[in-house]
Order: sequence, then structure tokens, then C-alpha cells
Amino acid sequence: MQQHDVLDRARGIQDWIVDLRRRLHRHPELMYEEVETSRLVRETLDQLDIPYRANVAVTGVVATLGRGEPCVALRADMDALPIHEEADIDFRSEIDGKMHACGHDCHTAMLLGAAKLLKQNESELVGTVKLVFQPAEEGGAGGRRMREEGVLENPKVQRIFGLHVWPLSPIGTIVSRAGAFLAATGEFEIVVHGKGGHAALPHMTIDPVTTAAKIVTELQTIVSRELDPLDSGVISVTTIHGGAAFNVIPQDVKLQGTIRALTMESLQYLEQRVTEIAQQLAAANRCTAQVEIVGNSYPPTVNDEHLWQLAREAGADLLGADNVLESPPIMGGEDFSFYTEVIPGCFVGVGVLNPDIGAIHSVHHPKFKVDENALPIGSALHVSLALRSLAELSG
Ligand code: NI
Repeated sequence: MQQHDVLDRARGIQDWIVDLRRRLHRHPELMYEEVETSRLVRETLDQLDIPYRANVAVTGVVATLGRGEPCVALRADMDALPIHEEADIDFRSEIDGKMHACGHDCHTAMLLGAAKLLKQNESELVGTVKLVFQPAEEGGAGGRRMREEGVLENPKVQRIFGLHVWPLSPIGTIVSRAGAFLAATGEFEIVVHGKGGHAALPHMTIDPVTTAAKIVTELQTIVSRELDPLDSGVISVTTIHGGAAFNVIPQDVKLQGTIRALTMESLQYLEQRVTEIAQQLAAANRCTAQVEIVGNSYPPTVNDEHLWQLAREAGADLLGADNVLESPPIMGGEDFSFYTEVIPGCFVGVGVLNPDIGAIHSVHHPKFKVDENALPIGSALHVSLALRSLAELSG
């Protein structure tokens, strides 16, 4: 397959890719419940006569094209979010309270588009292309589970690429960077225990509300006073729950929040300090604090320098060098990092911003919308990254 006509060929199947994407969009499924999504992926692979392994990490699917080594993997995530859709489109989510608000429907459809294109020239593949359709990117660490269930083995994957629709960049562009691109993320829960009682008699109580307020404020000095100013970190307290009446001091107050950093060491440091400060401030105020780092802490997504260079070249061939953009690191998290923790990889944004059609909202927004002309670009980029990689690795 000639590199330069990959995009023409992807545009030739744009309707097919868009149709898949819209079917997925109408039926969003949350983490580890991607049953119908997984079925659509398998049915499409069956139609394309591409073999696969199903039920990996519950709903994941791993397809293979070509054979033997070298081996390159392309990854898409499949899960949706618990958001009620308000986008102005006629294929809106048909499930109340669930929405593909992070574009994982696009990622799955783009990878199926790449599967169709690669299949047409399978005999020319020198080695194997693995197509990884994973569940539970949104907090469920589906990537780690896929890795633990061996998707990077047999044959051994030497490099991996993942794409994400990118509402910060215009349609017709791709964007990423070498090194840390996305943040390491963690989640915490703090329960401040006091002693409840009548609000008119505070001296008879131990007030967890004032103590929780002090903890919220004090946590903000960790990043500003303890982290190297040239390093990056975020601590956001995002929920506070306590009490039920204006004249009652409650027993407990619960806080939740997120921690972000660009290295695992910084993340672990911030997690440790959140724990210490919450516990000791609580003690200083006669309360106790139970602190838990809950959920799955995600490592930072670190792009291999050479592979971003390779993606830059692929993007320049497809879209022109002016349309390959460099991004600063972004404090969002991504479980693609569980693959790049163990093998070289590169995560690339595909621009979907287009004010002319109202595609202006960020991911995780109820009005999130993409310019679907990005879909064949994503498929073509996947194909190009796989072919360039196999050529390099077998050369
Ligand atoms: Ni996402």
C-alpha cells in the first residue's frame, strides 16, 4: 500500500466508518459493560474475515492481521460516560444518563476503519498488526487489565499507538508531544469524624465542618510550597458532603478529589502528603480523618521520542507538515499509560474542533460533538503508523 493514498482510501470508506461510529454513539455503555459495543466490533471483524480473541478483560477484543514478528499494536477504547447527552445531533444517545462524551465511539470506529484498510493489503504486511479494543478507560484501568491478560504477548508487541479525538485542535490536524503528554492521576476520599450535636452548643461538639474546611484550604499549599515549581501538580477537592440541617453540627464530613502529576514519583508524593496533612490537621482539631486513595491511580502517558517523530512524519505525509501540532503536557489522564509503562508507544490527538458545525465543547461535556471528517484521518493515521513501524522494525 502506498503511504500517500492511505488517506484517499480511508476517505473512500468514510460513510462506512461514520455509520459504525453513529451506531456506537446511539448505544453508549459504561466500563466493563461494553457488551453490545464488543458484539458490534466482533461482528464487523467477522465480516472482514479478521481473526480475534474475545472476552479479554471482560469485553475486550484483540484482533490480528498478518503473522509473526515484528508486531505492532493499535489501540482503541470502547467505554462511555455517565453523562446525559445534550449535543445537537440526530444520532444522540438513546440511553438516558449515558453518553460517548469522550469520543471512544470514534476511536473504536477509526480502528475498525484501519482494520478494513489493512485487511485489503494483508498479504503485504511484514509481521503482525494487533488491534486492541479495550474496555473501561474511564477509571476502570481496562488497559492494565488487558496488559495483565497478555495482549502484549504472543507475538510480543514492540510498539503501540493510540489515538484520541482532540477538541482543542482544529479538524485536519494531529497533535502530541515527546515525553510526558498526559498526567498521572489519583483519586482520594477523606472522611473527617467529629462529634455531632446542637449547633447552638459548639463547645459540646467536635466540629468536622470547620476542620474539613481547614483541610481543603491546607491541601492547596502542597503544590505551591512543596513541589518543585518546574514540576507540575494539581490537587482539586471536588465534593464536600456533610450535615442535613442548619442547626445541627454533623458527625462526619466527606471530601473527595483528584491528584495529578507528570511523574509517578510526584503523584505518590502528593498522595502521601494529602494523607498526612488531612490526618494531622484533623488531630490538631480533635477530629480524626480516614484517608483513602481510592480507585485506580493511572501512570503518566509518556510518548517515546522516536515514535512521536515517526507519527509527525506520518501526519505530515497525510495532512501536510503545518497540520502537525506540538502540545504542552495536559493534566488529563489516560490509561493508554499502562501499555507505555512497559513498551514504547505514542498517543496522538486527532483534531475535531470545528466552530462552523458547533464542535467546540471539550470532552466530558454534555454537548461534546466532533467533526466526523476526523474519522478517516484517524483510520489513515493508524494504518500509516502500523506500516511505517513494521517497515522500520523488519528493516
Ligand atoms: Ni477518552
